[in-house]
Amino acid sequence: MKHWQLNNEANGIVVAVLDRAGESTNALSTEVMLELSQILDQLDKTPPAGLIIRSGKAAGFIAGADIGEFSQLDTPGKGLALVARGWDLFNRLAAVSYPTLALVRGHCLGGGLELALACRYLLAVDEAGTKMGLPEVMLGIFPGWGGMLRLPQRVGPAAALDLMLTGKTLDAKRARNMGLADDCVPPRVMEMAARQLLLSQQPRRALPLVQRLLNGPLKAVVANGARKQVAKKARPEHYPAPYAIIDLWQQHDGNALAAPEVVERIIQSPTAKNLLRVFHLQERLKGFGKPSDDKASDFTARHVHVIGAGVMGGDIAAWCALRGLTVTLQDQSLERMAPALKRAHALFVKRLREPLKIRAAFDRLIPDVAGDGVAHADVVIEAIFESVEAKHALFRAIEPKLKPTAVLASNTSSLRLEDLRTALARPERLVGIHFFNPVAMMPLVEVVEAEGADPTMVRAACAFVKQIDKLPLPVKSAPGFLVNAVLAPYMLAAMRAVDDGISPETVDEAMLAFGMPMGPIELVDTVGLDIALAAGQQLAGGAEAPRCLQQRVDRGQLGKKSGQGFYDWSSGQAKKAAPGSVPAGLAEKLVKPLVDRSSQLVADGVVADADLADAGVIFGTGFAPFTGGPLHLRAGRR
Ligand code: NAI
Repeated sequence: MKHWQLNNEANGIVVAVLDRAGESTNALSTEVMLELSQILDQLDKTPPAGLIIRSGKAAGFIAGADIGEFSQLDTPGKGLALVARGWDLFNRLAAVSYPTLALVRGHCLGGGLELALACRYLLAVDEAGTKMGLPEVMLGIFPGWGGMLRLPQRVGPAAALDLMLTGKTLDAKRARNMGLADDCVPPRVMEMAARQLLLSQQPRRALPLVQRLLNGPLKAVVANGARKQVAKKARPEHYPAPYAIIDLWQQHDGNALAAPEVVERIIQSPTAKNLLRVFHLQERLKGFGKPSDDKASDFTARHVHVIGAGVMGGDIAAWCALRGLTVTLQDQSLERMAPALKRAHALFVKRLREPLKIRAAFDRLIPDVAGDGVAHADVVIEAIFESVEAKHALFRAIEPKLKPTAVLASNTSSLRLEDLRTALARPERLVGIHFFNPVAMMPLVEVVEAEGADPTMVRAACAFVKQIDKLPLPVKSAPGFLVNAVLAPYMLAAMRAVDDGISPETVDEAMLAFGMPMGPIELVDTVGLDIALAAGQQLAGGAEAPRCLQQRVDRGQLGKKSGQGFYDWSSGQAKKAAPGSVPAGLAEKLVKPLVDRSSQLVADGVVADADLADAGVIFGTGFAPFTGGPLHLRAGRR
């Protein structure tokens, strides 16, 4: 066999190790599945005392199906055949006479978890990389290899649907606590624990009666609740897969083969194709941060120094500490840093949950009024006031202290790097690392290259961005880079529509129906009307500010932060009236300037090609992912 190894142990246990040839991670390709069925054939003839399935890769257990094969599902019938392959094979695995166990260490996703669910026991290894989930919905499809059948049986239908409809993952402890894993053990005892559990004859933990009822006669209760939850986030005409998951579970016990028309409709949908495209775009962005073959360009940051503990600097520092880096955070006084430290703590509590881990993250974030960290940092990020003079003074003061290899970056949104770097003795070392607000929520970071910048620094900046689990997008130095440059004419068009008498609610509804995560007027309220006005002056090519914007700014109505903008924010949420009916063609009219500008920026070379522009706009603005991006949409490839 090419991908699997079978080890027969003296105690009668067989260990099947998946180590997919020629790849660093395991995925369930046609060949891998075929070999697994051959293993089952062989074991049918001479049944073992038990079978352990594990991975031979350091990266993890199994990352899922082989996504490369999805793009070959272009003709009717192929999708159904793919579903049948996994459904039948895993049913066969679930029915074998001898005990089976999946030893799960590292990622165990999609088809990988469906395989593990088909084993009698699932033993999770408790370490940082272990995560389990069924994220198919994020690719616009469904877990058709038994996940929709077995996950509800294992953890109860509400928890299972929550996992399948959001694509979120569980670590080893949470998987055990929810009943997905039978046990969770540290790596040093996993071998022994796996063999003990396998031969224990211990029955599976039964679902409580209520859960069994909800997974049987009372399915409608859970299904209706799940449909309501999904409807809050995704419209069926944009994202059909989550609705199909609920239906397939409710009506067919998760057997997609019982509803071939649903399988074809979902797999052949433009949404599934476009979400697959978005997945590949995301991989391409990650690639910018990966080490090239040229070893000299490898860069790993250990210590980051952030200057300016305001809205951005504070959150950038917290994010880096969360991601395991040592961070020194500098501002003019400790008092100015206090709000940032408070927000950091809240972030750690939310994301890390365990007191020891929270404590450790907080220990990594070191307030540093004197700026001693500059001399030790691998990356120094400047996020002080948006003023050329202030930034010049800062650069002059810190440059002599920097390590020669340190990346010096500015988070500026609107100043030219070419103007900022004139204060430096080595101007070519300055790069832009442009985060978006809120830092913890936004996946994209623009890495800005000014004319004549040192390419080693640009590559190192991309590697750093990838290291902290953000998506680096290389862009050239130009006003607004990519993301703000495309947002400005879109927001302007939206506010012009308000000037023309269309209500903010109607404008927002038009774009929500189009598939944007937030309406453009609510977006203006969120970023602040003063910021939108300033950005507009810089990016709108001298166009006059919309009246609706200017008047509100004059009245001090600056949006969410002041409690009133286009909407009343006194309750913390935008208070919106009913949108009424949306004029035909409004969404297309509003989105056109964004698409035009994206295309122009590609032509100008600010971003390297149309695919990267689509990636940047999707991950930087939330532009409707199911469309595949603005330029893909324009090209009519939906
Ligand atoms: P902010 O006004 O919230 O924070 C700036 C902080 O820098 C203040 O705490 C101030 O005390 C500190 N500071 C000023 N001069 C300093 C110095 N010489 N040494 C140490 N600390 C100093 O500003 P914000 O919004 O965080 O913006 C910072 C930078 O990030 C700007 O360049 C801005 O263009 C950029 N940016 C802002 C975004 C936003 O949404 N606010 C988004 C992306 C980039």
